[in-house]
Order: sequence, then structure tokens, then C-alpha cells
Amino acid sequence: MKDAIDQTLIRGDELSKRVGELAREISADYAGRELVLVCVLKGAVFFLADLARRLTVPCALDFMAVSSYGSATDSSGTVRILKDLDMDIGDKHVLIVEDIIDSGLTLSYLTKNLRARKPASLEICALLTKPSRRRIHLACKYVGFEIPDEFVIGYGLDFAERFRTLDYIATLKADAAADLADSEGSLL
Ligand code: IMP
Ligand code: MG
Repeated sequence: MKDAIDQTLIRGDELSKRVGELAREISADYAGRELVLVCVLKGAVFFLADLARRLTVPCALDFMAVSSYGSATDSSGTVRILKDLDMDIGDKHVLIVEDIIDSGLTLSYLTKNLRARKPASLEICALLTKPSRRRIHLACKYVGFEIPDEFVIGYGLDFAERFRTLDYIATLKADAAADLADSEGSLL
């Protein structure tokens, strides 16, 4: 499986520097307020852990798990909630923390769903975005890195549940991606 890794796209020190910048920007924007960080499991866990520890505003953490049906590397837009929030986010300032925006379909569904719960505010912070893959308009206030249309792994992002624990972001070899292209039901 290790030979499925192609090349490093974002080094660990670059991730850490950018997460620090995002944390400073978010801390300034939310000064004097309390935040609820909503982490989308599982891909965003390392990003959430690093980001949250660098925020200077008080924040609560909550988690959602959703599954998207489609192939392993392509989402279909049909989203199902596997684990909902524990908290009531009504009147709270909510920031969704996501690993990567690809088509945008998952976050489009999630923002609609969370907005219906009447938070005081709702924004998105995504570590990565692939603008060329977008199939739906999505307003994402905080973005770590724009990347090209390549399947990436590491720092929380998986390929068939592998490689999440790499401390850098790497691209996946095309033949490895093709191997799983037809498998169903990936856990985001
Ligand atoms: P979207 O609904 O197409 O925007 O897909 C979003 C989800 O697909 C992300 O939260 C990831 O879990 C997964 N995903 C999209 N692109 C990649 C990738 O390059 N590597 C790993 N997971 C990805
Ligand atoms: Mg995933």
C-alpha cells in the first residue's frame, strides 16, 4: 500500500504555518464571541485538533459523521447523517471545520441542514479546496490551500481508510485510485 503514495504536495511545516495563520484570522474575526467548531468526521480530525488549540477565542467542539454515496474518489451528492451533533447550535456562532471541498455537494447539504437549526452565524473553514472540481456554488470563508484536481491523502485524508496519520499531504498514484474507483459508500 505504501507505494500508492505519489509525491508530497504540502509538507508538515507548511501545514502547521498555514493552520497558525488561519487560527489568527479566525481568532480576530470572532474576538469577544464564543465559537462552536463542528468537525466533519473523520477527515478533519487532525486539522480540527491543530486549529482549535491555536485559537484564542473560547470554543466548544462537536462532531458530525456523514456518508456520501458514489465511488471511492467521487461523491454522488447523496449525503446521509451517520452521527449528528450532540449540541443544540441555536443562537451559537458555528464554524464547520472540513478537510477538503471537492464537488462541494457534501458541504452544501451540511450547511443547509445546520442553517435550519438557526445558529447566530454559520461559516466554513476548509483545509483544502479543489476549485476545478466544484459542481455547486459554496461560500467558504476560510481556506488553507487551493490544490489541483488530484486525489490527496494524509493529515486526516484517507484512501480506503489508509494514510490518515501521515503528517503531510501527498498525492495518490493514479493506478491506486483506479483500483478502488468502483467501491461504494465512503465514510468522509
Ligand atoms: P464533496 O462532497 O465532493 O465536496 O466531497 C467532500 C468529501 O470527499 C471530503 O470531505 C473528503 O472526505 C472526500 N474527498 C474529496 N476529495 C478527496 C481527496 O482528494 N482525498 C481524500 N478525500 C477526498
Ligand atoms: Mg474521506
